[in-house]
Amino acid sequence: MDGSEKPVYDREMRAIVLVGGEGTRLRPLTWRTPKQLVPVLNRPLLEHLMLHLREYEVTRVTLAMTNRNALIRDTFGDGAALGIELDYAYEDTPLGSGGAIASVAAGWDEPFLVCNGDIVTDLDLRAMIEAHRTAGAELSMHLHEVDDPSSFGVAVVDDGGRITRFVEKPPRESAPSRLINAGTWLFEPGLLAEMDATAFNRVEDTLFPRLCEERRAIVGFQQPGYWRDIGNPEALRLVNLELATREAAGVVQGEGCEVAADAAIEAPSVLGAACRLEASARVERSLLWDGVCLGQGATVRDSVLGPGVTVEAGAIVDRSVVAHGATVAAGARLEGASVEPDARYED
Ligand code: GTP
Repeated sequence: MDGSEKPVYDREMRAIVLVGGEGTRLRPLTWRTPKQLVPVLNRPLLEHLMLHLREYEVTRVTLAMTNRNALIRDTFGDGAALGIELDYAYEDTPLGSGGAIASVAAGWDEPFLVCNGDIVTDLDLRAMIEAHRTAGAELSMHLHEVDDPSSFGVAVVDDGGRITRFVEKPPRESAPSRLINAGTWLFEPGLLAEMDATAFNRVEDTLFPRLCEERRAIVGFQQPGYWRDIGNPEALRLVNLELATREAAGVVQGEGCEVAADAAIEAPSVLGAACRLEASARVERSLLWDGVCLGQGATVRDSVLGPGVTVEAGAIVDRSVVAHGATVAAGARLEGASVEPDARYED
C-alpha cells in the first residue's frame, strides 16, 4: 500500500444496531424486560452484541429505537463501561429497518455496519469488511445456512458470491435456498440517497430485492460459525444452553444462589443471581433468571423462568415459560404453557 489507498480494514467504522422492535414473540417475558435486556449467560443480550463489535474495534454505535425505554439507557448509558461510544436515536413512529437506517446515517460518507439487535454470533467482521472491499460491493449481507428458512429472508447467490434474488419468508417447500439473511449488513454510504428516511419501510422488502433486480453489487458473506437469533423464549433458552456448554462446562450460576445439598442441576442450565433450590428440587436444561425459588421437590424441565418466579413444593414445570414474579402453586403441573407476570398457576 502506498498510503493513498484506503486500508482494507477500517477501524473507524460505525455501526447502527436496530433495536426498535416490539419483541412480541418473546412475550410474556418482554412485558417487563425489553428484548435487548433479556439475559444471555446472565448478561443482557445487547451487551454480547456490543462486545462483539468492540472485539473488531467498531466502537461507535448508535441504537435505533422506537421507544424511550429508560431501562435500556439506565443499563448501557453512554457505553463507556463497555468501551463503546454509544448514542441513541429515537423514532416517533416505527420507521422499519429502511427508515431507521436512512435517518440515523443521513450525512454519513463512510461505509457502515447495521446489525439486527437480537442476534448472537461469532461472525468475523474483519473478514466480512475485507471481502466487501475486495468485491467492490455496495452492500454485503452475512448469510447463514439453516434447515428451515421459512421465517427468514432467503438469498440466492451466484458463483461469484453476488446475491441474485432475495425472498422474504418463503414457504419452506418453495424456498429457493437455505441461506438466510443473518442480520449483519455492510452499507456503502451511496445507498443512502436511494433510501427513504421519512416513512416506514423495510430494506428486506424494498432495497434488497431492488438491488438484486438491478443486478447491483449486493454480496453474500458466508462463514461457518455460531449464529442464533433470539426470536422467542425457546430460542432464548437454547442460546443460553448452547453458550453454557461452549463457555462454562454446562452450568452457569449467578452470585448468591443457594442450592440444597440434595437438589440437582442438570447441565446445560443457566441460573441467575440469588436463585434458591430447596431440598430435592431439580432443574433440567432450563434458564432461570434472577431470584427464582424452587420449593422442596419442585422440578423445572426445558423451561424459562423469569425473575422472581416461585415454583412451590412438588410442582412440575415442563417445556413452559413463566414470566416475572409469577407462582406455580404447590403440586401443580405446568406443561407446554405460558404464565403471565405476577399470575398464580394452579391445576
Ligand atoms: P417480534 O415483534 O417478535 O417480531 O420482534 P422484533 O420486532 O424485535 O423482531 P424483528 O425480527 O421483526 O426485528 C429485527 C430487528 O430489527 C430487531 O432487533 C428489532 O428490534 C429491530 N426493528 C424492528 N422494527 C424496527 C423499527 O421499526 N425500527 C427500529 N429502529 N428497529 C426495528
